[in-house]
Amino acid sequence: MPSEIHRMNTLCIIGAGQLGSRHLQALKMVLQPLHITIVDPSEESLKRAEERYQLATGSAHHQLRYVKTLGDTAQSFDLVIIATTSNYRREVVEKLFETCSVKSMILEKILFQRYEDYQKVEQLLEKNHCQAWVNCSMRAMTFYAELPKKIQSGPLTYLVTGSQYGLITNIIHYIDHIAYLTGCYDYEVITGALDPTPIDSKRPGFLELNGTLSVHFKDGSHGTFTCFPDGEIPFLVEIHAKEYRCIVRENERKAWESSQKNNWQWQEVNAEIPFQSQMTATLTENILKTGACPLIPYKKAAQLHLTLLEALRAFLNTSSGKKFDYYPFT
Ligand SMILES: NC(=O)c1ccc[n+]([C@@H]2O[C@H](COP(=O)([O-])OP(=O)(O)OC[C@H]3O[C@@H](n4cnc5c(N)ncnc54)[C@H](O)[C@@H]3O)[C@@H](O)[C@H]2O)c1
Repeated sequence: MPSEIHRMNTLCIIGAGQLGSRHLQALKMVLQPLHITIVDPSEESLKRAEERYQLATGSAHHQLRYVKTLGDTAQSFDLVIIATTSNYRREVVEKLFETCSVKSMILEKILFQRYEDYQKVEQLLEKNHCQAWVNCSMRAMTFYAELPKKIQSGPLTYLVTGSQYGLITNIIHYIDHIAYLTGCYDYEVITGALDPTPIDSKRPGFLELNGTLSVHFKDGSHGTFTCFPDGEIPFLVEIHAKEYRCIVRENERKAWESSQKNNWQWQEVNAEIPFQSQMTATLTENILKTGACPLIPYKKAAQLHLTLLEALRAFLNTSSGKKFDYYPFT
């Protein structure tokens, strides 16, 4: 009997910086041997990614290849993770499809810097029959993912507060979570209570904003996100519905819940917020095995991104005295 030959699954991480290296670390927990290509023009990023991989726990026997560019040879990948900053993301996707065939893709948020990038990349994904998701990861975290069962019915009031946590880079996670909980993707952004002067993002070359931003969803749900420019008020998430409410202290991995079913008695529960260096393992295994992924599909994510980013661009153009024809965030 001829023995069955299994092709090793092929993965590629493009952008091996702070987050890309965490995606790589997670892959060490995938038991099935993989062929992984890590691409980053920065020697320093590649070196740090390699060090982090070596330090990570896991007993995998993967074949790893660290390269500065993908080159011009045709390659085929089962999964590609794009973890560069937003300014390079479209160009990286375009270059990838010039020579490679890709079955599945995970793109980091914030997706892209220009309005037209969103449709261009959507067309490329369709043309190349590549299924893609965006790494808004609350949908993949057990506590947050299981809330629809507890909430029962909307609309929701969703509040996020904290100090110096990177409002704009993080807000898309919470907007995505509201959409996940309610099934409503249609919303408006109210920017009037944001601080008018942008600040530098912790990632060089990008901007951030402080103050309060609100979102009103068509189903009647509301979100209010506040980031204080100073102080150390701990990060807090509150979700309120007619039959359920919770307070999440993410840093402590704890939540307090109360519901009509339990006569509004408060209960303390664990709220696991896994690191990216843990999450990508399960996401990858599922995609390779079943082709499915709990993250938000590309097209829906693009819709959520554009509503937010266009409102922020309009806000910057009236408040900062500059004219932005792109979204200076990542
Ligand atoms: N989903 C999440 O929870 C989450 C968390 C953190 C960061 N992020 C997002 O991930 C992105 C990256 O953040 P980071 O902190 O890792 O930034 P980073 O600057 O540390 O890493 C970006 C890397 O991309 C590399 N790069 C630039 N051009 C490239 C190219 N053409 N090909 C390959 N690599 C290239 C850079 O050399 C760098 O190493 C940001 O958009 C950020 O918002 C998402």
